[in-house]
Amino acid sequence: MHAGFSGRTRQTPVSRFSDGELLRLITSEDDKDIRNLFAEARQAREKYYGTGVYFRGLIEFTNYCKNDCYYCGIRRSNAKLDRYRLSPDEILACCRAGDSLGYRTFVLQGGEDPWFSDDRMVEIIAAIRREFPEHAVTLSIGERSRESYEAFFQAGANRYLLRHESASEAHYAKLHPPSMSLAERKRCLWHLKEVGFQVGAGFMVGSPFQTPEHLLEDLRFIEEFQPHMIGIGPFIPQRDTPFGGEKSGSLALTLKMVALARLILPKALIPATTALGTIASDGREQGLKAGANVVMPNLTPTAARKLYALYDNKICTGDAADTCRYCLAGRIASAGFRPEMSRGDAAG
Ligand code: 5AD
Ligand code: FES
Repeated sequence: MHAGFSGRTRQTPVSRFSDGELLRLITSEDDKDIRNLFAEARQAREKYYGTGVYFRGLIEFTNYCKNDCYYCGIRRSNAKLDRYRLSPDEILACCRAGDSLGYRTFVLQGGEDPWFSDDRMVEIIAAIRREFPEHAVTLSIGERSRESYEAFFQAGANRYLLRHESASEAHYAKLHPPSMSLAERKRCLWHLKEVGFQVGAGFMVGSPFQTPEHLLEDLRFIEEFQPHMIGIGPFIPQRDTPFGGEKSGSLALTLKMVALARLILPKALIPATTALGTIASDGREQGLKAGANVVMPNLTPTAARKLYALYDNKICTGDAADTCRYCLAGRIASAGFRPEMSRGDAAG
């Protein structure tokens, strides 16, 4: 854990990088620069984590969402999408299936769905906790009050993923409707830390209107907030959203951001995201080689998967849980890393 960085204690940036150096690396197209950056990032991850890659079983349990983020396929204005929610029993069944495949972390991710009230979430978390006392329970269900976060933590949840999406006020406002704000997002992130969660922040790369300066702000925010986990993936258009006609973020830039995040927070848990695997067939392997050390294979029942349509052409939507589990283990081993099924908390 990051002793001294918990709660609201803010540290002055300690990064070895100046703004100018970061901007230079973000915009560099020089092969040698980039190779060096990836090699350094790999060394940093090996120092704390060796070659192990942690597995997290992802359960996408509802695609209802009351928000309307311009980039996201499950936004409430998308009338073309069939909506689903897994029942609490179905969620538990996913956990059991995941446990028999060896998973020791369950990630419950969904849209901001009011049906999953605090009381219902607490019941679900407590039921998982009773049945799987040793497992880590990660939530990824968006913005809630501090009291809700406390209730989830008390019920036994350990980790919470809430990407900040963009650390620039102006850019955040171009990606979200006026009902949402970066200030509120940051408030939630600090609350999650204060409550005691291991917290994940993160951002999309190549989202519409994003500039290198915005990415610099994302890195500076990561440095200030010191998340335990950092989710970074390329933006990918979803056809039924206002950004449906925009370009995807590039593989090269996403990999650079993964590497820079690793160098800024060497002990962070950084996934090679599904979005990376979607823009390039070996995108996740390349992510691992650029400093990532986590994968999040899907445990969602196959019938529901294609409906969790954050973006177009998402991989694995026709696959079953065991397929992804063994597919990724194979990919990790061929890339020279070691699949690691243990609970995998952040390095101390
Ligand atoms: N492209 C890439 N990532 C997306 N997300 C949502 N929509 C998209 C998209 N179109 C990401 C957001 C969110 C996470 C669950 O998925 O960063 O936090
Ligand atoms: Fe799902 Fe490869 S990870 S099939």
